[in-house]
Amino acid sequence: MRKVYNVGIIGSGDISAQYLRNAKEVGAFRDYYKIVAVADLVVEKAKARAEEFGVPKYGLPEIVYDDSGIDLIINLTVPNAHEEVNIKALESGKHVYSEKPLATSREGIKRIMETAKRCGKRVGCAPDTFMSAPMQTAKKALEEDWIGKPIGVNALCPMRGNEFWRADCDFFYKKGAGPMLDMAPYYLNVMVSLFGAVENVYSMQKKTFEQRTIKVAPRRGEKIDVEIPTHVCSTLGFKNGVIGTFTNSFDIFGATAPKIEVYGEKGTMVLPDPNCFDGPVMIRRYRDKEWRPMIQFVEYEGFGRGIGVMDMIKAIEQDKAHKASAELAYHVTDVILTMDEAAQAKQELKVASTVAQPEGCYMDQDPIFWA
Ligand SMILES: NC(=O)c1ccc[n+]([C@@H]2O[C@H](COP(=O)([O-])OP(=O)(O)OC[C@H]3O[C@@H](n4cnc5c(N)ncnc54)[C@H](O)[C@@H]3O)[C@@H](O)[C@H]2O)c1
Repeated sequence: MRKVYNVGIIGSGDISAQYLRNAKEVGAFRDYYKIVAVADLVVEKAKARAEEFGVPKYGLPEIVYDDSGIDLIINLTVPNAHEEVNIKALESGKHVYSEKPLATSREGIKRIMETAKRCGKRVGCAPDTFMSAPMQTAKKALEEDWIGKPIGVNALCPMRGNEFWRADCDFFYKKGAGPMLDMAPYYLNVMVSLFGAVENVYSMQKKTFEQRTIKVAPRRGEKIDVEIPTHVCSTLGFKNGVIGTFTNSFDIFGATAPKIEVYGEKGTMVLPDPNCFDGPVMIRRYRDKEWRPMIQFVEYEGFGRGIGVMDMIKAIEQDKAHKASAELAYHVTDVILTMDEAAQAKQELKVASTVAQPEGCYMDQDPIFWA
């Protein structure tokens, strides 16, 4: 029988609910791992999550680091704590799967990768949405030439800021987050999965508001000083020749343009929100009178956050590379930091790193059809 990994969560805030729910409710995840402990610097938060999801053990992070029965740690702390928690997790003899960004600097990610090598453990990093049914369907459609050779991509992340729905939103406006380190990984993971590594970038960016006002209780009316640019427009040159544009913003009240649109020599493909795990993939080709959705016959249909954890455990068992890898996280973070440097230098810059295009994760027999 397959070993089911014991997993400890560190960071019991907002997103921990999704990981805990999926680990309980998605049967395929249950075959690979179960959450046995939840921890936080604020023990009451860990206690609340443990009670909500029936987790047997909760407490300060040490209860996870020091538990030799735990095989893997999911790091759901705030971005500026990721590096320290990831390194501690590895040094405590566990694999680690971290929320993005893996660390907020290139040096930080390299330190994590070196520690993993030294400790003989794996590092995975969110987002894992690029493994979702629609994003894998889009990847397969490209491989099967449904829209011909890709020419370009337009991506748009139109958000108006987390202060409109959550009171504890300070970290989104501090160094280490902002629309780039917080949201761009969703879009870049998908684009790298579709087209391969990014070779060069140019960006313009601005901080539209010096302060943001929290709109919800219990901190309604409180101001947050903004440390980072909140509206960023970039162009990207991919290794395979595709040219992309990417508008990523915390300043936009609404938009009608698609989140990701791919232009091929024979047609166009529209993808759903890369921050989600579902939604239609629409294609329109030469002579088509209308857009048509594609049937999504892929392995991970119906899954949510946690696919990356399952894929990493599967890969450990099969002694293969996992898909939401530290190398992918390094390249994507490098692209994001290079965009910032390009904006400051007012010139196009080369991205120093590269990465292999992640393999598709669909079953061999999956055909692609019109819905
Ligand atoms: N909230 C979302 O919708 C969402 C979605 C996807 C990804 N994420 C990512 O998940 C991560 C967490 O986001 P969140 O919204 O849950 O944040 P949050 O602020 O709600 O929760 C973070 C928790 O981490 C704890 N923490 C901070 N430093 C710690 C440390 N060193 N050790 C242990 N606990 C520590 C905090 O006390 C807090 O409870 C972020 O990287 C974020 O980008 C969030």
